[in-house]
Amino acid sequence: LNYSFDYSDIDRYRERVLKIHNKLEKSNDLIGWIDLPLENQSVLFERVFNVTEEIRRVADVLVVIGVGGSFLGARAVQDALTPYFGMHPIGVEVIYVGQNMSGAYINQLLTYIADKEVYVNVISKSGGTMEPALAFRVLRSYMEKRYKAESINRIIVTTDPEKGLLKNLADKAGYRQFVIPSDIGGRYSVLTPVGLLPIAVAGIDIKALMDGAKTAAIELQEPDLAHNNAYQYAVMRHILYNMGYKVELLASFEPSLNKFHEWWKQLFGESEGKEKKGLYPSTVNFSTDLHAIGQFIQDGSPILFETLLHFHEIEVDYEVPFDSRNEDGLNYLSGRTFNEINAISKQGTALAHAEGGVPVIQLELPKLDAYHLGYLIYFFMKACAMSASLLEVNPFDQPGVEAYKKKMLELLKEEKVSK
Ligand code: PA5
Repeated sequence: LNYSFDYSDIDRYRERVLKIHNKLEKSNDLIGWIDLPLENQSVLFERVFNVTEEIRRVADVLVVIGVGGSFLGARAVQDALTPYFGMHPIGVEVIYVGQNMSGAYINQLLTYIADKEVYVNVISKSGGTMEPALAFRVLRSYMEKRYKAESINRIIVTTDPEKGLLKNLADKAGYRQFVIPSDIGGRYSVLTPVGLLPIAVAGIDIKALMDGAKTAAIELQEPDLAHNNAYQYAVMRHILYNMGYKVELLASFEPSLNKFHEWWKQLFGESEGKEKKGLYPSTVNFSTDLHAIGQFIQDGSPILFETLLHFHEIEVDYEVPFDSRNEDGLNYLSGRTFNEINAISKQGTALAHAEGGVPVIQLELPKLDAYHLGYLIYFFMKACAMSASLLEVNPFDQPGVEAYKKKMLELLKEEKVSK
């Protein structure tokens, strides 16, 4: 974690951070995720492994139904750690529905799965969210028609342990269920069965993911700002926000992290954007976006700061070949790898943007793998809870999301009456 402004600016927040830390640890709010990686998860892991094995044995595709925190984390980890082209060697294809209300999307999804063996995992904490509920209505009928009584075994429900329409429906139908702990909200739930089952089915080592999160949970238990990187990141964002930078641009250098960006955006956007406060979380992928939005970052309105996310090692790489013709003039790069060049482009970007007056925070991780992604997920959740608390907003609710739902329902009901 680097910063270019004076450390004393950060240090000034020490007392406040300590107070928030103590309050968060003791609160009765949705903080189950804080100690989750430290808990013994062996029973849950065994269940997840057994179901994953079964799905791998029987199915070609797992259809995950969910929206917001009920799908973004799984999608993020899956995309980050599976090959760009084709399948993970031991994974089953995982596809997602119930995040939009596109008729074309669901129609084409049904066509796509028609000749494949299908399992469904429907995920909703409240059990009543419109997008996944509509998609499940369609997929449930589809599975019943296609698999008859066997459909009961092929539909897996991940929901609240006690309440909600989905919970009632699952109990009645006899579907297998995974529990989303009551004290963990949607966008903090990727390390519960919400994320773990789809991620495991995709072929990713969920134990390593959780081990990384556990290391983070231990390190970031530290109440002292001087020794807690997540809190330092939260404070830096807060200082920059107060200086008038209202947009944080998370920038990565690996395209497989694009969905991780979506998860990050939701985490910070829904946790902080309240009471007319909060940084607007935006993302870019370099070097692609240097040729699109790079001009604005370098020279445009000074409204943003940048958080560069860089993984030092990416296992798969490719060496630039020597070409005796050298017609493209690139022989000076031959023998170097693409990942090395990418890392240098990161350094160049940081320097150029800093020179252009853009504050740059750098988050560095040793390797893009399940362990370090688990660490990073936990790091961002811990930073987010602190950062929202510094803004004096509740990190765990999302009252603004209800507004659109209310209006949409009113319109849908009005239309029905007028038909
Ligand atoms: O972070 C949140 O709580 C939300 O984004 C929810 O995850 C999202 O609205 C989906 O809710 P549910 O899981 O209840 O369907």
